[in-house]
Amino acid sequence: MNILRSAARWRNVRRTLRGSIGFVPTMGALHPGHLSLLERSMNECDITVLSIYLNPTQFDNPADLECYPETLERDLELARALGVDWLIIPDYDEIYRDGYRFQVREREFSKELCGAHREGHFTGVLTVVLKLLNLVRPERAYFGEKDYQQYLLIRDMCDAFFLDVDIVPCTTVRECDGLAMSSRNTYLDERGRDRAPKLHALLTSKLNDEHVAVELARAGFKVDYVMTRAARRFAAASLHCGHREIRLIDNVSLTPKAISEQPMAKQETP
Ligand code: PAF
Repeated sequence: MNILRSAARWRNVRRTLRGSIGFVPTMGALHPGHLSLLERSMNECDITVLSIYLNPTQFDNPADLECYPETLERDLELARALGVDWLIIPDYDEIYRDGYRFQVREREFSKELCGAHREGHFTGVLTVVLKLLNLVRPERAYFGEKDYQQYLLIRDMCDAFFLDVDIVPCTTVRECDGLAMSSRNTYLDERGRDRAPKLHALLTSKLNDEHVAVELARAGFKVDYVMTRAARRFAAASLHCGHREIRLIDNVSLTPKAISEQPMAKQETP
């Protein structure tokens, strides 16, 4: 695996690469969910690029950024073992050399669901993703459905700005008890870990949104929202673990899986 810590050097390398490029942007602390995105990219593309960049502009709460898990050595081992071709680890001054003067702001859907509870979050996400997509210039970029609102906003941004990239949604990877894999799960204490699967269990229940929120509160969650939008049920809720509030999000489709969401076979490049 080739590792580059400079976006400028990566741009030089990028000019020399031939074949289809699959891209998986992450903030590190890799877990099986990320690995499934990388595996899918490796199956579908000639070259797989992983980025690890803990993006400060998408954190509405500085304390959350401060204690976000950083496990770089382990991430390198996992990516190397999987056979990732390129890892880029840019730094803040390169990514935000404009001092965050230019931002991508969406005015509608980004204000709902998580956006209603995390001021500026999606502006930070969309801005950094646009920068990363412009740096990597992939054919396909892979995003987990756990962050389904993020996926939809990124897909629509690429469409709005005529970016020549397929934004590929990938099925959420779950623990055996249904808990969606997330870097934040490592913060859960024993009691929190026992309660956390209730989020998915209630989302998939027959109860209506309001009733799910009531049951989550009864199970010890502080509920931000439970809402159905576009044939999907979304929820965000926190559990108190030690000195921290651990915010979990999840969503489930209310319709059978579309054929277009199934993995594609690798394309032969001429
Ligand atoms: O989903 C994430 O890990 C982040 O929001 C992303 C897409 C890497 C942007 O920083």
